[in-house]
Amino acid sequence: MEHISLKGKTILLTGAAGFIGAALAGRLMAQAEEGMCLVGVDNVNDYYDPSLKEYRLNRLEELSTMHPEVTWEFVRGSIADPELIRGLFDRYQFDIVVNLAAQAGVRYSITNPDAYIEANLIGFYHILEACRHSYDGIQDKGEKGKYQGVQHLVYASSSSVYGGNKKIPFSTDDRVDNPVSLYAATKKSNELLAHAYAKLYNIPCTGLRFFTVYGPAGRPDMAYFGFTDKLRAGDTIRIFNYGNCKRDFTYVDDIVEGVVRVMQGAPSRMAGEDGLPLPPYAVYNIGNSNPENLLDFVDILQQELVRAGVLPDDYDFEAHKELVPMQPGDVPITYADTSALERDYGFHPQTPLREGLRRFAEWYREFYL
Ligand SMILES: NC(=O)c1ccc[n+]([C@@H]2O[C@H](COP(=O)([O-])OP(=O)(O)OC[C@H]3O[C@@H](n4cnc5c(N)ncnc54)[C@H](O)[C@@H]3O)[C@@H](O)[C@H]2O)c1
Repeated sequence: MEHISLKGKTILLTGAAGFIGAALAGRLMAQAEEGMCLVGVDNVNDYYDPSLKEYRLNRLEELSTMHPEVTWEFVRGSIADPELIRGLFDRYQFDIVVNLAAQAGVRYSITNPDAYIEANLIGFYHILEACRHSYDGIQDKGEKGKYQGVQHLVYASSSSVYGGNKKIPFSTDDRVDNPVSLYAATKKSNELLAHAYAKLYNIPCTGLRFFTVYGPAGRPDMAYFGFTDKLRAGDTIRIFNYGNCKRDFTYVDDIVEGVVRVMQGAPSRMAGEDGLPLPPYAVYNIGNSNPENLLDFVDILQQELVRAGVLPDDYDFEAHKELVPMQPGDVPITYADTSALERDYGFHPQTPLREGLRRFAEWYREFYL
């Protein structure tokens, strides 16, 4: 593995107004590596309330004023716009690219397939093409010496690629060619496209299969957030598969710590016996490796919402809970085998579920009440 120092690096972060992207940008600013230039891109679409994305962006602006060692630039635009992406690569000469921009969500892909093809396939393709062309000619980067092209492309895949995998925990050695949603199919396609580009153009690529990320300023389309909105409004929450669901919930700061570590260790470029490059390519699971029963999760969430004052002390939780069958595209369990990430990057999530949900509940009160 090649170690990459973040000092003085120019980094492209797509999906920077998103839940994980904004948290990652904040973490990178706080790390305050001298001379780091962080360029965020996001089209700030309205898949969920864009005011939440604006809130995250405003926080990043504030943070950037506190960390003058890091240059922060934000560009509003789509990764599916090839001219925009080419222009940014020409202008900034990125050393590291982190692609988190995507149309997320499993259920929405059933009713809005176009959005997934556009962002997850066409958008990712333009990122790969731009990485490929970053090696065209050696360019002088002034004080920074010669520009080497992109040294590491890190991109978001998803636990959903495991589909109905029966074997647990889910390992990156398991076959994942039976996606059960278009979203999962696009994420698996990203891994395949990245492999081909790694092989053809020697681009060091690492795909990360995220497992259900939750936390403050999270995504309102995700179950824990939707449950919170509904409980607060006095509506009934619907718990799928009669509650027989397990999810490997991962707190956002833990995920971000893992991504920052991965950014700094790229798969090595090596030649095979035929003299041609072996693809500098890796895929990891990134998650808690400790699945929680959905009913327990909801129970702790409800307790923390009461504690934070989002729900009243006498809230009748049982009266607002309905157990219903499984939904199309859903899977009964997600459980990450993260031993490879632990071995290669020393990544180990630290945040207990109750603590993570407490921080979410407190943020929710501050933001909405
Ligand atoms: N949150 C999770 O639990 C989870 C789980 C598995 C995988 N992921 C993946 O992690 C990544 C980040 O997820 P998130 O939870 O932060 O989601 P998010 O929706 O909050 O963030 C994605 C961001 O990408 C932006 N975007 C979408 N299409 C774009 C385009 N064409 N050009 C530029 N920007 C675009 C959106 O506006 C959004 O701000 C995504 O790739 C997602 O598929 C997330």
